[in-house]
Amino acid sequence: MSASGRSEEPAASALRLDELSHGLALKRLAGRLHYFAEIDSTNILARRLAEQGARDGEIVIAEAQSQGRGRMGRRWQSPPFANLYLSVILRPRLLPANAPQITLMAAVALAETAAGFTRGVAIKWPNDILVGGKKLAGILTEASCNAERLDYVVLGIGVNLNYRLAAMPDEIRLRATSLAELTGKSVSREDFFRRLIHALDRCYGELEEGGFARLAPRWAAHFELRGRRVRVESLDQSTIGTAVGIDDDGALLIEDLQGARQRVLAGDVLAVEN
Ligand code: BTN
Repeated sequence: MSASGRSEEPAASALRLDELSHGLALKRLAGRLHYFAEIDSTNILARRLAEQGARDGEIVIAEAQSQGRGRMGRRWQSPPFANLYLSVILRPRLLPANAPQITLMAAVALAETAAGFTRGVAIKWPNDILVGGKKLAGILTEASCNAERLDYVVLGIGVNLNYRLAAMPDEIRLRATSLAELTGKSVSREDFFRRLIHALDRCYGELEEGGFARLAPRWAAHFELRGRRVRVESLDQSTIGTAVGIDDDGALLIEDLQGARQRVLAGDVLAVEN
């Protein structure tokens, strides 16, 4: 207790590596860990390891990133000891055209894991995990493929666990949240990691065996924009319509203002007023 009588936050400490892998029983992912106290970006290193032949399911994890990356060239705030920053190297038996399904599969695994800690977990297509409209976690998927074959996919995941609003830079404080902010308690990073990796192992197996159709109902259960008027912005166009759901291949379905169904494969989705 502090002099004011308020209980203090436990001191931030490094991940306990034995606890990260304690009891991990994986069917599909190799689970081998590459741990770093600090790194530029776990995705950058994971790509390098994949090029050097790393196996399906090897994981790069770091306490902090100096160049944590988000989608669309954004930066991912990666302070030490508070959160999880990891990249999983995957070698999926999927056609290159289906690579975006890896992001959707990971969103299901992440949403289901976070739902074990807090209520109201929502997926914002394609890669954001939100609670109360604020970002809890993000996914950055980078694939390498040729015309016929997906060589590897790096699945980068950042989750705000013990990141307090007071410690966030102004530019994200209004848009971000963390499990500690939502629950009022600090969260074991090792426990969240183990649950997430088990969920990924399960969902990855389901995707390969049954295609995205197998995961789509669980994705839809967390889809926060269903029925909402949205604007989808991709590199070269902007479409307004009503978010209807997702297709079995993971494309976002929008009913445009003329009532025609549009399939959106990439972009940012924003809710707009009706
Ligand atoms: C986004 O929401 O824009 C995606 C954020 C992804 C952040 C993670 S943190 C681990 C991995 N390494 C990175 O540099 N980025 C991803």
